[in-house]
Amino acid sequence: MKLLVTGGAGYIGSHTCVAAFAAGHEITVLDNLCNSSPEALERVERICGKKPRLVVGDIGDRACVRALLDAEKFDATIHFAGLKAVGESVEKPWEYYENNIAGTLVLLDELRRHGVFNFVFSSSATVYGNPDPANLPLREDAPLAALSPYGATKLWLEEMMRAMAKADPRWHFMLLRYFNPVGAHESGLIGEDPGGIPNNLMPYITQVAVGRLKELTIFGRDYPTPDGTCVRDYIHVCDLAEGHVAALAKVADLPGCTAINLGTGCGTSVAQLVASFEKATGRPLPHRYGERRPGDAAACWADATKARELLGWVAKRDCDAMCRDAWRYQSMNPDGYRRG
Ligand code: NAD
Ligand code: UFG
Repeated sequence: MKLLVTGGAGYIGSHTCVAAFAAGHEITVLDNLCNSSPEALERVERICGKKPRLVVGDIGDRACVRALLDAEKFDATIHFAGLKAVGESVEKPWEYYENNIAGTLVLLDELRRHGVFNFVFSSSATVYGNPDPANLPLREDAPLAALSPYGATKLWLEEMMRAMAKADPRWHFMLLRYFNPVGAHESGLIGEDPGGIPNNLMPYITQVAVGRLKELTIFGRDYPTPDGTCVRDYIHVCDLAEGHVAALAKVADLPGCTAINLGTGCGTSVAQLVASFEKATGRPLPHRYGERRPGDAAACWADATKARELLGWVAKRDCDAMCRDAWRYQSMNPDGYRRG
C-alpha cells in the first residue's frame, strides 16, 4: 500500500515506518518536527535500507495537506501527529485542542476530498479515564471518560470519527487504543527521545540509568495492587508498530469505525518494571518511594482479545525485552538523537 504517515518521525511513527517497510508498504511522512528530529528517519534508512519521503509540514495547514494529496495518491493514512503530554495539556488546553482536534479536522476534510478513506488513528487507553477496577481488563466497550484536555482530544476525535463513519459509508476508521508503549527497536538506532525531563516511567528510568537524572521516584506504594505500586499494560513499541501493520491489512475490509485495544493483556507494576530493568542492565537502579501522583489510576490493563480475533495480532515481546531494548537505545544514544 501507499501510506501517508502523519507524525511518522516521532517515537511510535518511526518504529511503525520500520514495520511497514518490512511489510512492503511505501511511505510518505508528514511531520512538522515539533517533537521529533529528521534524524529518526535517517536511522530508519539505516535499519531498512530505504527512507520514507519526508514532507515537513503541519496537518492543520490546509494548503500543505492539499498540495501533498494532489501530488500523491494514497491507499491509507496512519495518523500519529499530535501533542501527547497530559500535564502540558492542562497548562495549555487551547494548544492541544487546536493542534490535535482542529489539525485532524483539516486532515480528514482533505482526505475525503481526495478519496482517501482508510484511516488508522492513534487513540489511547486514556479514553477509559480512571477505570473502575470491576472493568479490568478493559474491553473496548468499557465506559469512556476524559480526565485531561489531552484525553478529551482523543475521546472527541473518536466521537467525530464514529459520527462521520455513520454518515458516510466510504470511511473505514480504525481507532487503535494504545496502552503504555515502551522500548525501542532492537538495533538501538531508534527509540524514544523526549525533550526535557521525562514524565513517563520508562524514559525516566533509562535517564537515571545513564546518569542524566539522579534517582527515580516511584509514585505511591499504598495502592490496592499486589505490591502497592501502580499497575499498567506496558507494550513493546515494535509490537505496537506491528499492530499497525496488522490493522492496515484489515482496514479496507472493515467499513465504519472499529476501536481496538493494543496492549499485551498483562498488568505489570512499577516495582516489577524496575526489577526487570535492573535485570536487563545487571545494575541496581537508584530509586525511592514518594507520594502518589495526583490523578493516577491504581491499575489499567487491556483485554487484548479483539485485536487477536479481528487483526490476528498479539504482542510477543515481554517486559525483559522492553527493558533490554530501551536500555540499549539509551546507552547508544545518551543524549537522544542529538548525539550518539
Ligand atoms: P511523538 O511526539 O514522538 O510523535 C508525534 C509526532 O507528531 C512528532 O514527530 C511531532 O513532531 C508530530 N506532530 C505533532 N503535531 C503535529 C502537527 N500539527 N502536524 C504535523 N506533525 C505533528 O509521540 P508518540 O509517542 O510517537 O505518539 C504518537 C501518537 O500516539 C500521538 O497521537 C499520541 O497521542 C499517541 N499515543 C501515544 C502514547 C505514548 O505513550 N507514547 C500512548 C497513547 C497514544
Ligand atoms: N511513575 C513513577 N515515577 C515516574 C513516572 C511514572 O512512579 O517518575 C509511575 C506512575 O505513577 C504510573 C506509572 O509509573 O503509575 C506509569 O506512568 P506513565 O506516566 O509512564 O504512564 P501513564 O499510565 O500515567 O500514562 C500513559 C501516557 C498517557 C496515557 C496513559 C493511558 O503517558 O498519555 O498512559 O494510555 F493517557
